[in-house]
Amino acid sequence: MRTLQVELGARSYPIDIGPGVLSRLDTQGQRCLVVSNDTVAPLHLKTLLAQLPEGTATCILPDGEAHKTLDSAGVILDALAAGGFHRDGLVIALGGGVIGDLAGFAAAVYHRGIAFIQIPTTLLSMVDSSVGGKTGVNHPAGKNLIGAFHQPRQVLADLQLLDTLPSREYAAGMAEVVKYAALGDLAFLDWLEAQTPALQARDHAVLAEMVERCCATKARIVAADEREQGQRALLNLGHTFGHAIETASGYGTVLHGEAVAIGMVMAADLSYRLGWTSLTDVERLRDLLQALDLPTRCPPIPPEQFLALMQRDKKVLNNRLRLVLLKPLGQAIITADVPPEPLQETLLAAT
Ligand code: NAD
Ligand code: GLY
Repeated sequence: MRTLQVELGARSYPIDIGPGVLSRLDTQGQRCLVVSNDTVAPLHLKTLLAQLPEGTATCILPDGEAHKTLDSAGVILDALAAGGFHRDGLVIALGGGVIGDLAGFAAAVYHRGIAFIQIPTTLLSMVDSSVGGKTGVNHPAGKNLIGAFHQPRQVLADLQLLDTLPSREYAAGMAEVVKYAALGDLAFLDWLEAQTPALQARDHAVLAEMVERCCATKARIVAADEREQGQRALLNLGHTFGHAIETASGYGTVLHGEAVAIGMVMAADLSYRLGWTSLTDVERLRDLLQALDLPTRCPPIPPEQFLALMQRDKKVLNNRLRLVLLKPLGQAIITADVPPEPLQETLLAAT
């Protein structure tokens, strides 16, 4: 087992990584509400409940990004209220990023904030969404438009839970893994290239090292910039392009991780057009993503629509689009100085 700490003063918390770490769940004797969905619950809820007092409350939501709404958060809040939970209640999220974001948001607002524990069950949620305290729901006007920063008290990344994850979801998680390498760790990129066969076989030992390396990077960035005033935005590499792809295609058609994979290649392509990254490095990134079964070509979206969707991104500041680009591969930067021509070229070349 591996353990890391997210250092946030009084709000610091451990991330335990490895097969079987579910047994390290520490409720501190508090009453809890377990939140999951109707796909994950039949697979893994029983194992979790076996560790909790009989009669522990549960709230099982319908599966899917379409249900990451204020209404679903309301269902969790109703369950907390109906169960008579007070300030000392504890929410446990058992699921992927959708459940983690929803349960975390409900925990953030119930009684103005109660404790919660993340038990991520997808690769994406293990390496990204369960760490860092971003919680929230979607709104018709935008993804994750409503939310709160609320750190979990414990994160348990039990690799055994990944055994049931469908291949497409597993690949989507790998996009966020590659993101950490592309934004700041070329040695990790070398390692991912070398370990691709073991990663495709979901080898637990190799996975443990990989998840630890990702969480270590995320923990360091979150500790330095919890509220995204600066460097935390680097974690959005590929996301401004990706969110536009997700929105244009309709949520759920292209998975978040798939959109991030395509978005990273677009960010690399634009960096190349700006003279910041070599063509060899753009191809290197694309090859690795493809080897990990990820798409790298953008679905057909008219450039005007693409640009309009990018303008809606949360990273737009004073009406200027800010992008995370590579200067070079392995070193991400945030820039608001992107001339329109190369951006147009990237959009046209992406499909
Ligand atoms: P998800 O939660 O929808 O899970 C993907 C699918 O896998 C779902 O159908 C789910 O039911 C199923 N599943 C989950 N675990 C399983 C298991 N062990 N076995 C079988 N099936 C399983 O999606 P995701 O990719 O985990 O997360 C995406 C969400 O995370 C998006 O809403 C995104 O906005 C959010 N996100 C949040 C942050 C953050 O910092 N809070 C970061 C990145 C992404
Ligand atoms: N997934 C981006 C962040 O947590 O900041």
